[in-house]
Amino acid sequence: MARKLIIAANWKMNKGPAETVEFIKAFLPGAEELSASCEIVIAPPFVCMSAAAGLLTDSVVALSAQNVSEQEEGAYTGEVSTSMLNELGAQFVILGHSERRSIYGESDEFINAKVKKALASDLKPIFCIGETLDEREGGKLEEVLRTQVSGGLAGLSEADMANVVVAYEPVWAIGTGVTASPEQAQEAHAFVRSLIKENFGATVAEATRIQYGGSVKPGNSAELMAQPDIDGALVGGASLDAQSFRDLIANGVA
Ligand code: 13P
Repeated sequence: MARKLIIAANWKMNKGPAETVEFIKAFLPGAEELSASCEIVIAPPFVCMSAAAGLLTDSVVALSAQNVSEQEEGAYTGEVSTSMLNELGAQFVILGHSERRSIYGESDEFINAKVKKALASDLKPIFCIGETLDEREGGKLEEVLRTQVSGGLAGLSEADMANVVVAYEPVWAIGTGVTASPEQAQEAHAFVRSLIKENFGATVAEATRIQYGGSVKPGNSAELMAQPDIDGALVGGASLDAQSFRDLIANGVA
């Protein structure tokens, strides 16, 4: 089964509602053509999601959140629930991003609870994993990825996995301008696919889309997307400008 590319914009803590509207109005013309060979997703900050949803409904671009609570509702100051995201029409949620892991201390177990809550609420997790430079240089790449995959996806069924997108983002390549070479990325992606096979079997491993993230730009998306085990991208900096994001996708699908 051929895996359709999926390219997602992770705006992180950038852009307010007005800039969100400006971006989407600039981005949507031409998006339909690109969407024939690539699923396109935009993950704005929570406070911009309503403005984004107003423009993205019935478009070819899907709306994603950047995080969600593992709780249903109640006294959890500052948190956002899956039902709130459902009400806005969000289809995806980014979980386990390295910034959530390293800055906010999210553990594999906690991320796993969020993944399960998202799936139970019809939200598709974009589940992020990746090693730091120290871990890579210390020969721990495989151990780190194995722990993140088995911990973060623990207890999921094969059917659940049809709704999970995995994003491999080497921490040393995020926001640094240093991209993993296509060969380095392909090697890690093939390993991640083998981990999915260990946990869920060959059919699931073949069908699961694995995005690459870390300094993806219009100038390198083509060579990255050409790798057999790279099925899309999770993009930070280069997704903040409509033209740059469009070029990155266009080059990636070419
Ligand atoms: P950059 O594209 O800015 O390196 O960010 C990658 C990322 O963390 C996307 O989630």
